[in-house]
Amino acid sequence: MSNGSNGSNGSDGIESRLKEDRRFSPPTPFTFRARLKTAAEYERLYKQSLEEAETFWREQTTDLVFQRPFDKFREWLLPHAKFFVGAKLNITESCLDRHLTTDARTRAAIVWEGEPGETRTLTYFELHREVVRFAARLADLGVKPGDRVAIYMGMLPETAVAMLACARLGATHSVVFGGFSAEALRDRINDCEAKVLITQDGAWRRGNVVPLKKMADDAVAQSPTIERVVVYRRMTHELAPVTMKEGRDIWWDDLLTHTPSEEALARAKKPEGFDAEHPLFILYTSGSTGKPKGVLHTTAGYLAGVHVTSKYVFDLKPSDLYWCTADVGWVTGHSYIVYGPLSNGASCLVYEGAPNFPDPGRFWQMIERHGVTILYTAPTAIRAFIRWGDDWPNKYDLSSLRLLGSVGEPINPEAWIWYQRVIGKERCPIVDTWWQTETGSIMLTTLPGTHATKPGSTGKPFFGVHIDVVKDAGKSCDANEGGKLIIREPWPAMARTLYRDDARFKSAYWEQMPGVYFTGDGARRDQDGYFWVVGRIDDVLNVAGHRIGTAEIESALVSHPAVAEAAAVGKPDELKGQALVVFVTLKSGQTADEKMKKALGEHIDREIGKFARPDQVRFADALPKTRSGKIMRRLLRDVAAGVTEARGDTSTLEDLSVLAKLRGDEE
Ligand code: PRX
Repeated sequence: MSNGSNGSNGSDGIESRLKEDRRFSPPTPFTFRARLKTAAEYERLYKQSLEEAETFWREQTTDLVFQRPFDKFREWLLPHAKFFVGAKLNITESCLDRHLTTDARTRAAIVWEGEPGETRTLTYFELHREVVRFAARLADLGVKPGDRVAIYMGMLPETAVAMLACARLGATHSVVFGGFSAEALRDRINDCEAKVLITQDGAWRRGNVVPLKKMADDAVAQSPTIERVVVYRRMTHELAPVTMKEGRDIWWDDLLTHTPSEEALARAKKPEGFDAEHPLFILYTSGSTGKPKGVLHTTAGYLAGVHVTSKYVFDLKPSDLYWCTADVGWVTGHSYIVYGPLSNGASCLVYEGAPNFPDPGRFWQMIERHGVTILYTAPTAIRAFIRWGDDWPNKYDLSSLRLLGSVGEPINPEAWIWYQRVIGKERCPIVDTWWQTETGSIMLTTLPGTHATKPGSTGKPFFGVHIDVVKDAGKSCDANEGGKLIIREPWPAMARTLYRDDARFKSAYWEQMPGVYFTGDGARRDQDGYFWVVGRIDDVLNVAGHRIGTAEIESALVSHPAVAEAAAVGKPDELKGQALVVFVTLKSGQTADEKMKKALGEHIDREIGKFARPDQVRFADALPKTRSGKIMRRLLRDVAAGVTEARGDTSTLEDLSVLAKLRGDEE
C-alpha cells in the first residue's frame, strides 16, 4: 500500500518523491497498533515533559526498579545537572531482575548470530544468570564500585554480559570499539586508569580474524594500571593464537569454574543500590583537540532516557525482534543494544560480522530467517546497500519488518526513499534519530505512529528536550533559517562531565554559547517544527558514521618521523557522507611518493585504527595559514572538494601561492 499522504505510490519517480514538502504519513496498520497514535498525544506528553517534568518522568519510569525513590527530580547548577536526586538503584535490576517475575523470563533477551553463521539465544533468565555468575568472579578479581574496567570485544552476548556485570558491581565500564588499534586502546585504558581489561582471543570480520587479544597485549604492555586481563575464547588456538601471561591473564571460562567467595556471590546476587549519579560508563569520543574526550554517563538519568526513548521511538512490544546494527563500542550500542532495549524487556538480535559476508544479502537473509521486526541502522550502510543493488534485498522475504530506523549522520533523501521503498516496502515508518554520545539518548526524531516523516528530516524533539536553532548571539532562528543546534536545558541522559576534565566539559559544550549546550551541529527548523540537521560545523568529521576529530588525525600524522605538518579535512562523499582528506608537508629529505602515502595510512591504522585511515593523502610544500599561523581549514576543505575559486576572505592568508600550488596538486 502507499503511505504517502501527498499521494505517493510505488510507481512515482524518485524526483517527484524528493519534493521539499514530501511527507509520508504513518501507515494505518502501524498506527493502529502503535503505543502513541496521534500528534495530539505527542503534543500532550511533550508539553507535560517540559512544564511538569517531574510528573512526566515519574509516570514514565514506574516500571523501572529503584531501591530508594528520588527526593527531587532535578538540580541544575550550570553546566552541571543531577536527576532523580536521592534515588538509589542498580541499573541491572531494571534490565534483568525485573523481568524474572514476568513473561519476559523465558523470552529471548539476545538472539546472537556469529559471522560464520552459528546462533545462540539467551533468555532473560539466562542473561541474568550469566551476569550474576560473571559479576561474582569479577568481584573476586577485586573489582569494586567506582573501579574502571575496560572492555575490548566484538559483538558477542558476552560483551553485554561484561558490561552488565560491571554495572551490577558499580564498576564503570569503558568499552573500546574493536576497530581501534592497540595504541588507541592503551591511551583509553591509561586515561581512565582501568584495573581490569576484558577482551577475547579474536573476532570475525569479513571472514578474517581480528586478533583482539594480541592487540590488547600490546596495549597492556604500556598500561601500568591493568592488574588482570579476562579473555573470552571465541576462536580456536589455530585461528587466533594467544599467549596468556601468568598471573595476569585468565580465560573467561576458567574464571567461571572458580567457586566465588560468599561475599562476591552476595554482591552479584543481591546487587547494591547506587546513587542516581553513580558513574555508569565512560565512552571516549572525538572532539576538536587531539585528545579524545572521556564522556561520562551516570545511572538513573541515563537509564530513564534510554528506557523511555526505546519504548516510544521503537514502539517496542514483546512480540518484536529488534535489530540495532551498531557496534557496541559506540554509544548507539550502549543505549540501543544494551540498556534501553533490555530495560524494556525487548528481544534483540546481535550480529557479529560484516553486512556483506559472505555476500551482500547477509542482512536481508538474517531478517528473513529470524523474523526481525525493527531494523535500526546507519545511512552509510544504506548507501552501501544501494550500491550493491536491489537484487540482494529483493531475494528475501522482508515482510516481518514493521519499523525502520536511521542514526549517526544525515540521511540523504535518495537513501531515505530507497530504504522506505526497497526495505520497508512502503509499509514501515522510518525514524531518523538525531543524538550524540554526549546526549546519551535520542533527542530528535519523529515518533513512528504520531507524525508524518519527511525524508532527510530528523523530525521533532523527543519528550523533555528543549532544543533550538540559533544564531551566534543565541537568538532563535526564523523558520528555515540555518543556525547552530543547541539545547536550552539539561535532560536526564546527558553526559555529566568529561572524565577528569571538567574544564573541557564546560568549554566544549557550555561556553561557546553561554548558558546553553552547543551540539557542534548546524541545523534548521522548518515551518512545521521539523529539524533538518546539516552535520558538524566544528572540527569533527563524520566518516561512514564514525566520529573522527581532525585534530586527532593531525596529531597522529605529525607523530610520524617524516611529517612536518598536517591538516585533515572532510570532503563530501557519496558513500561515506564525508571522506577524510589529509594535507601533509614532509620534513626535508623525505620523499613525497606513493610509498610514503602508504606508510602514512599504515601509521594511522596503528595510531588510531583502520576505520580512520585517510581516503586521500596529498602532499604540499606548505599549508595555507593566517598571518597568526592558524591553518585555514576552510580553504583546504574547498581544495579537497575541488572548488577552484577561492571562496570567502583570503586576505589574511600568509602566502596565496600556497593555495595555488595545492589546487594544482589535485588528483
Ligand atoms: O553530527 C551529528 C551526527 O553524529 C554526531 C554524533 O556522533 P556520535 O557522538 O558518534 O553519535 C552517533 C550516534 C548517536 C552528531 O553531532 N548525527 C547523529 N545522528 C544523526 C546525525 N546527523 C544527522 N542526522 C542524524 N540522525
